[in-house]
Amino acid sequence: MFISIEGIEGCGKSTLVNGLSEHLQNKKIGHVITKEPGSTSIGKILRKILLDKKQQISPLTELLLMFSDRLDHLEKVIKPSLKEGKIVITDRYIDSTYAYQGAGRGISKDIINNLVTQTEILLPDKTILLDLDPEIGLKRASSRNELDRFESENLEFHKRLRKSFLKAAEINPKRFLVINADDEPKKILQSVINKLSTYDERLKESY
Ligand code: TYD
Repeated sequence: MFISIEGIEGCGKSTLVNGLSEHLQNKKIGHVITKEPGSTSIGKILRKILLDKKQQISPLTELLLMFSDRLDHLEKVIKPSLKEGKIVITDRYIDSTYAYQGAGRGISKDIINNLVTQTEILLPDKTILLDLDPEIGLKRASSRNELDRFESENLEFHKRLRKSFLKAAEINPKRFLVINADDEPKKILQSVINKLSTYDERLKESY
């Protein structure tokens, strides 16, 4: 099973990913936790450029760098792990591109759709969207570290991201699980595990 976790800045993806990883470890289910951008040696270089506030990057260049990272990630991490029968959980994937480069930077959906089709990238079986008001998310993000090139964008930018994620969920109801991220991390984890276990019995909580 290939799972992506999506959402705006400060929505709690990392906490959820850690919780899911612990749960899968306890259940001794083979899995790989990964993220975009930056999960391969090429990806790490691209990530450094992409997050660097000092870099001036055009929207199309940004899009193609994200896609380069994704193709390398798919080739070297995602596909081999799925082939080994592991559950792959990625912190961000294609819906972040529609949100950030599409709604955020203004690149047309057709261009991104074309890239998706031409590169034949794998789509996740399930996408968990942690939905949160950007005002709350940005406050959380700015309280923990120095803001990167994306986090430094204004509130309007982040509002467009949230809208884009919700729209994607509306268009793909079978793939998406939308979770209210303005809740206790423990409750969010529980709810995600419960929902995912209807697709993979092995994930079921044992009480
Ligand atoms: P990261 O530090 O991993 O942030 P987060 O914890 O919010 O995931 O930085 C990744 C950044 O890259 C994040 O701001 C979103 C952005 N991004 C895109 O703009 N497009 C993409 O396709 C992906 C995968 C990420």
